[in-house]
Amino acid sequence: MTCSGTRPSGRETPAGEGQRHVSIAAGTATHTAMVEADGSAAFDDLVSLLDYPMFIVTTASDGHPAGCLVGFTSQTSINPPRFLVGLSRKNHTFGIAQSAEHLAVHVLPRHELPLARLFGGTTGDTSDKFAQCEWHTGPQGMPILDAAPAWFVGRVLRRFDVGDHVGHLVEPVAGAAPDTLGELISFSDVRDVSPGHNA
Ligand SMILES: Cc1cc2nc3c(=O)[nH]c(=O)nc-3n(C[C@H](O)[C@H](O)[C@H](O)COP(=O)(O)O)c2cc1C
Repeated sequence: MTCSGTRPSGRETPAGEGQRHVSIAAGTATHTAMVEADGSAAFDDLVSLLDYPMFIVTTASDGHPAGCLVGFTSQTSINPPRFLVGLSRKNHTFGIAQSAEHLAVHVLPRHELPLARLFGGTTGDTSDKFAQCEWHTGPQGMPILDAAPAWFVGRVLRRFDVGDHVGHLVEPVAGAAPDTLGELISFSDVRDVSPGHNA
């Protein structure tokens, strides 16, 4: 690693198992960086620094709507358009999604934080989230949350194991989006929410 274009000089100091602390002199500043830390711990530290967008993902099967707050997402392709949604196997939403052909992905402005807390902090196993918010049936029979100014419905192309979540690769087939959205809900807004289900 270099800092300010200056090649650092490293000095190792004792650290925990799987860790190595290096004092780095770069320019006028001296930093202590942890390198080659245990991969899992370093990854946990790294992701705790991220502030990624949050979505509410809904679906429905046999007239039963389900949905939860989701952070494990990414656009994966431009042409063709593709989006990946990670659903925890333990979630009520996951069970419904397994017999659904589509998912609806909603983007929420920050003032809709209570809705994010509802969908992230309670489970459809024990409470009816859809009785506590405004929604309508949209394309492909998907539940669309009225509070979401931007959303799309995606057809599930593939489901695959990605760890304790299952990746759902979707192809957008319908949606709505305004020109601008303002401040959106991101992870830092909801990191204090206790998930309705542990992953
Ligand atoms: C900050 C945050 C991020 C979350 N990210 C995901 C996620 O990416 N995928 C997922 O399946 N659940 C995620 N959850 C958990 C679900 O939203 C939560 O367990 C919800 O209560 C499940 O509802 P359900 O059982 O009705 O599906 C997240 C929760 C929080 C608070």
